[in-house]
Amino acid sequence: MAVRVAEFYSGIGGMHFALREAGVACEVVGAFDINAVANDVYRHNFPGVRVMQRSIETLPHALFEALRADLWTMSPPCQPYTRQGRQQGSDDARARSFLFLIGLLGRLERRPARLLVENVAGFERSDTRAVLLRQLTRLGYRFEEYLLNPLQLCYPNSRTRYYLVARRDAAPRECPDDCEFPPRFRHAVPGASLIQPPADPAGRVDFERGVWHHAEVRQVGCFLEDLSPAAAAAARLPQKTVDRHGYVHDVVTPQDRRTCCFTKGYTHYAEGTGSVLQTAGAVGVDPMTPENTRYFTPREVANLMGFPPSLSFPAATTTRQQYRLLGNSLSVAVVAVLADYLLHRM
Ligand SMILES: C[S@@+](CC[C@H](N)C(=O)[O-])C[C@H]1O[C@@H](n2cnc3c(N)ncnc32)[C@H](O)[C@@H]1O
Repeated sequence: MAVRVAEFYSGIGGMHFALREAGVACEVVGAFDINAVANDVYRHNFPGVRVMQRSIETLPHALFEALRADLWTMSPPCQPYTRQGRQQGSDDARARSFLFLIGLLGRLERRPARLLVENVAGFERSDTRAVLLRQLTRLGYRFEEYLLNPLQLCYPNSRTRYYLVARRDAAPRECPDDCEFPPRFRHAVPGASLIQPPADPAGRVDFERGVWHHAEVRQVGCFLEDLSPAAAAAARLPQKTVDRHGYVHDVVTPQDRRTCCFTKGYTHYAEGTGSVLQTAGAVGVDPMTPENTRYFTPREVANLMGFPPSLSFPAATTTRQQYRLLGNSLSVAVVAVLADYLLHRM
């Protein structure tokens, strides 16, 4: 029987794509997101799914009961937990909807048997994590937390993220509000083949230092489109960007085995938003020019994140919107591995 899935913070459907990639027989019984552009992309890719454009915390209790979902997937806003942000955690208004869902779990008559959560690295140090883990303990969920990076699956793209998978099959336990949960993050998923990054004596791993340039990671060139001259010209870095910000970009070649995390600001801001591609000459030796340096196209970014070729955007979605939506989404490759584990082996 198909697993009934409620996809909260559904965006362009990264979780849905990952469940499919994992071979999970599922029916998404509701997808929830406030972003109209993302919802159009979701409907375009999954026409049969009911997509609700409402703030999750304003939805009526009866609707959640009526979903009768076996699995909740949640990739809530990351701004309360990012290094660039003010790290207000649960005090940030953007954490409200997730705290609402955590609280709601305790009031539901029919709780989901499984949960899958994705957030930025940094979430593991937040007070929201403590609220989540206390609630799961009280309700009898067994959970595992992970910090994983697509590089470990040989995708040449760095995107370290926090993941939690939970299954409701433990005994409910008392758990005081000040109960702490010491960090115990896994970097390997049982039954899956992932490159193990070396750990320092305190057990901390540095994925980028440990796995960048690993010979097993595939070359960037494997993820590139065969661009027409017109498309290649459209992807070029403008001369004024090269002049003003050239040195700030992270530059890679098709032979490299790494790219930086692509964020929603890609192509708009130069620093820390994703790599650019130098197609000729040597990085740092031959100067960057609009002729030899271009942005990765949205399709290439999607490839690096593990989206299948079937992902497509409605004609009305601009290139800028595509970059924003992809930057907000997730590594389908990594989530597929976790979904497979959660649904088939955990
Ligand atoms: C990190 S993104 C998740 C993206 C998604 N997993 C994907 O694959 O595209 C967070 C999403 O939560 C949505 N969001 C933020 N606050 C929300 C709320 N209160 N109710 C519903 N959706 C919300 C945003 O519009 C955004 O698409």
